[in-house]
Amino acid sequence: MSATRIRRPVGFPGSRISGLGHFRPDTVVTNDDLAQIMDTNDEWIRSRVGIAERRFAGEDDTVVSMGARASAKAIAEAGIRPTDIDTVIVATCTPESPVPHAATQIAGALGIHAPGSFDINAACAGFCYGIAAADQAIRAGSSSTVLVVGSERLTAWTDPKDRATAIIFADGAGAVIVTGADEPEIGPVVWGCDETHIDAIRVDGRNGTFFQEGQTVFRWATTKIGPVAIRAAQAAGIELAEIDVLVTHQANLRIIEAIAKKVIAAGARPELKVARDIVTSGNTSSASIPLALDRMRAAGEVTSGEIVLSVAFGAGLTYAGQVFLCP
Ligand SMILES: CC(C)(COP(=O)(O)OP(=O)(O)OC[C@H]1O[C@@H](n2cnc3c(N)ncnc32)[C@H](O)[C@@H]1OP(=O)(O)O)[C@@H](O)C(=O)NCCC(=O)NCCS
Repeated sequence: MSATRIRRPVGFPGSRISGLGHFRPDTVVTNDDLAQIMDTNDEWIRSRVGIAERRFAGEDDTVVSMGARASAKAIAEAGIRPTDIDTVIVATCTPESPVPHAATQIAGALGIHAPGSFDINAACAGFCYGIAAADQAIRAGSSSTVLVVGSERLTAWTDPKDRATAIIFADGAGAVIVTGADEPEIGPVVWGCDETHIDAIRVDGRNGTFFQEGQTVFRWATTKIGPVAIRAAQAAGIELAEIDVLVTHQANLRIIEAIAKKVIAAGARPELKVARDIVTSGNTSSASIPLALDRMRAAGEVTSGEIVLSVAFGAGLTYAGQVFLCP
């Protein structure tokens, strides 16, 4: 057998997030609005999931159009041209169609020429999977400038009268530019899934809508996800006390508080900043982390260079987390 002659490119030592943008649809839906069409009320929703209002996509807001609008802002902030991007990754579990996939459509809409392009479906964990894929492609030498998008139109897959899901799910998009860096600003991903709960969140068949076993998901997320966040900090060699901000997937305010409590009990500072975008954005699946981080930046609560611990989880049941520096 002859020795291998396959060559490998030399990648960057690390990667960093150089631009962030988001798109929130215009239509605000309050809990009182939902109470008009199903047996629920503002007090129940606020106390059980912490949501006061959420945004629903308008007729023209698609996974592709929302993702493109968020991406244009990330590109502008990074100070690059669309043609500088060599890879487009879209995390979504609610595409309008399986093919053509959303990444190529977003590339086309923005004038990004011939990038490597693919969609990721890791449900609500998708954004953290996308960041990991971008970081790994850059360090492997396959890519140098990657657009990572989380875009979801969950309302297209939700029964509007199902009070177990319709009170939670919403629409929106977030995007980041990930570029090569001499010093890593994105830590290793900790990812996995728990296939024993494969049916806990699901859509059955082509015309199905979201079903979830709420209490199963709640128990799983409040016990299993804090440790994933803690492992992500350890994997990056960052002390929990050094973490400035915790941005979890915005699933449910009670789940967010439970994860934050575990991370603080394990050594994070009691004044750790915690993203609570769920209150006014609802659960936007793979869009929720960039939406939440961008809101904190706009409010001046988080500044460039601060250490972010992100952790996401959802159907599958999947999870992923990593540390990165805020752009
Ligand atoms: C969905 C969730 C809010 C439901 O809360 P719950 O306490 O498990 O609710 P249950 O279905 O057990 O119902 C409890 C009571 O509230 C009522 N109820 C359920 N949904 C309601 C609603 N939307 N409005 C008003 N009442 C409601 C039930 O009828 C029941 O009433 P009863 O005690 O008189 O029979 C909760 O399970 C949850 O947050 N799970 C996690 C979901 C999640 O985060 N998913 C996304 C993961 S990415």
